[in-house]
This record gives sequence, structure tokens and C-alpha cells, in this order.
Amino acid sequence: MPSSLQSEYMNYAEFEQHVAKLIHKAGWTVETAKPNQPGHDLVVKKGNLIGAVQVKWLKGNVTAPQLLKFADYLDSNEGKKFNFGWFITTKGFGGPALALIRSWDKNTKMRCAIAYENKIVGVHGVIEIGGTEDTEETIKLDPPKKVYFGVFTCKGGVGKTTVAAHLAGAFALQGFNVALVDLDPEQNLQKLVGDGVFVPNPKGVGTTIQVFDGEDWHEDAARDCKIVICDCSPALERNPKELINKFDYCIIPTTLNPLGINKHGKVIQGTVEEIRKINQTAHLFVVVNNFKDPKSIKKMDILKRTFAEAYKQISRIDKKFHCIDPEKVCIRSSDQLYYWGMHILENPDNPRSELAFNLIGGRCHPREDFINLADYIETNAGIGILREKEDIELN
Ligand SMILES: Nc1ncnc2c1ncn2[C@@H]1O[C@H](COP(=O)(O)OP(=O)(O)OP(=O)(O)O)[C@@H](O)[C@H]1O
Ligand SMILES: [Mg+2]
Repeated sequence: MPSSLQSEYMNYAEFEQHVAKLIHKAGWTVETAKPNQPGHDLVVKKGNLIGAVQVKWLKGNVTAPQLLKFADYLDSNEGKKFNFGWFITTKGFGGPALALIRSWDKNTKMRCAIAYENKIVGVHGVIEIGGTEDTEETIKLDPPKKVYFGVFTCKGGVGKTTVAAHLAGAFALQGFNVALVDLDPEQNLQKLVGDGVFVPNPKGVGTTIQVFDGEDWHEDAARDCKIVICDCSPALERNPKELINKFDYCIIPTTLNPLGINKHGKVIQGTVEEIRKINQTAHLFVVVNNFKDPKSIKKMDILKRTFAEAYKQISRIDKKFHCIDPEKVCIRSSDQLYYWGMHILENPDNPRSELAFNLIGGRCHPREDFINLADYIETNAGIGILREKEDIELN
């Protein structure tokens, strides 16, 4: 077997170009997808066949969720126009990914392969694209800019992992490609969702959110993902500094009850101070999690006033610090979130983990709340860049 190209091609762009050349030499027309095109990187045509190619530049093996995400895309309305999809990578396919490939029958649209110096070899030797001549073809590559979110409070158990995963889910429901990165050495996120989580979409096929360990994260590993959400360890120093520095937005979950406010006032102040040591530009949002609506207007008023009071000082000093009005957006306390992950305990062999987004009696509080949060961030919080607009400055 020829050696892997990963070390030779030090970045995604060079590798993609190499793959395009190999396919071109085998007699296919190759087009590069638009820079922000989710789902595929190249389009290949020969006769009346048209295929989508996903190119993965990875330090390690392909994981099952990475394959599932491409398979989901091929099943979507957008992907249906392709006769097949090639998933071409640098190094190889991990055990679960190979098991998945073996589970597909011969009618699958998925073709999985590794690109070497002179050829592309299918996992079961199915594809063999040869050719060694040089070609003058050059391809312009412009990776899409990613928007980084951190979810961080310097306190344990406030719902960082819960919020990170479900905010990712809410963005995925809105059609964004999202990657989750577990920065916490405790790896709670990975314990709950493994290396990926499938989000069914009532209107379409759904999508798989890829989950990366902080140590394995590289921008090129999730090239088509526009949104990256990092679940942090409550101890700031345990999170990689380079990633904290990349945050455009940081969500700070807290609780809104009298004891919570008293305890957390200082915690939020400490959280902001810690983040600012590393990152001075991120917009910071305090969001109330685990909220039990007091029902009485008077109680709500008192809580809200105390909430605003506790953080007034920080808002004065830090213009990019914001408290989200809990009456507009909060994450309600729910059994669904509390028991999220139960299905893993019940069915440890289920390769597709899920979020607490199932409808009960036609509704789902976590789904509504996280869509609200995603929407709030997108519309009110200057996240225009998500939709290719200018970033709007907040007051
Ligand atoms: N809105 C909610 N409703 C009900 N339970 C919740 C809610 N949010 C979080 N929880 C529960 O609170 C606990 C702590 O949540 P989570 O693990 O997300 O917090 P964390 O801040 O990531 O903790 P750590 O600091 O240990 O990483 C979990 O048992 C979770 O199920
Ligand atoms: Mg956590």
C-alpha cells in the first residue's frame, strides 16, 4: 500500500487540488463547489453521470458521523440530483466507519476512498482512478469563514454541555452546518453524544452534527461547517487558549433564582474577567438556563431586576457584555433536558445519539427555547456574518 498523503499535503487546499487532478486525469470533468456550498466540495461529471465529492483532509481516520453527514446530504433534496457521492480522505476509515460502510448494500450512493500520490483507492478496492501525467489545471479555493461560539461559565453544572449541544442542534435545524468541539478534558459531551449526533428535520432528511475532541480539532477537518460550538471546561486553564481566542461569541449559562443570583453574580464577573484575559473581542451573552417560570408577575419582576442589577457593573465596563432578558429568551427547566442521554443508557449499541428535541403532545420546550436562543443570537446579536452580511455592532 502506498503511504498516506496526509503528511505531504499539509493543508486542505493542496489536498483537494490533488484529488481534483486525479479525478480529472481519469476522464472526469471536475468543478469546485462554491466556497460556502455545504455538503460537497467537488462536482464530477462523465457522460450522463454526475457525482458529488466530499474531500476530507484529516490527521486521523474518518469517523462514522462524518460519513453519515455526507450520506444525509446525498439523501436531501439538494443532494438528490447526484447519482453518487465520493467520500475521499487522506488517511483511512476507522472501525465504526468501516462497519457502517459494510452495512450499506450495493445500491448505496456512497463510495468511500483514500487518495494516494497517483491514485484513488476505494475502501473495498471499488474505485481505482489512475493517471500520472501532470496537468496545468489550478483550482481557486477559498474556505468559508467560520463563526466560533464558546459555552463557558467558570462554575460546574450550570448547563454548559447541555447548552452547547442543543444550541448546535438549533442551528442545524435551521440548515446550518455545525461542528461541536469538546474542550473539556472530562469529555462529558463525547460521553453523551459520542462523535456525532443526528438531528432529524421534520421537513427533510436531517443532518449529523460532527463532534470533535479539542485535541483533534482542526479547521480543515470540518471544512464545510460554518458554525463551531465549543463546550468548555469550567476551569478556564484546562481549555486550549488558541480556541478561546477564536471565539466570536461566548454564551454564559447561569441560573435565575434568588440563591443562584447571589452565588452567580461573582461567578459571572469572574467568568468575564477570565475570558477577557485571553479574548477581548468576543461578544458575551449571559443566558438563563434551567429556568422555572415563577408564574407571578411580581416575582418575575423582582428576579429580573436583581438579575440586571447583579451584572450592571460588568455591562458598564464591558461594551460587549450582554444579559439576555429571560422573558425573551431562556432555557426552561425540563425533564427532557434533565434526562437527556437516557437513550444511551437504555440502548448503548445505538450508533445515532440524539438531542432532547422530541415532540411531546406536539410541542417541545427545549426545541422552542434553543431555536429562540439561536434566533436571538442571529438577529439581535450582530451575527450577520452567518448570512454573509456585515457584522452589526451592538450597543
Ligand atoms: N434546562 C435544564 N433542565 C433540566 N435539567 C438541566 C437543564 N440544563 C441542565 N440540566 C441538568 O443539569 C446537569 C448539569 O448540566 P451540564 O452537564 O450540561 O452542565 P455543565 O455546566 O456542562 O457541567 P460541567 O461543569 O460538569 O461540565 C445535568 O444533569 C443536566 O441534565
Ligand atoms: Mg460540561
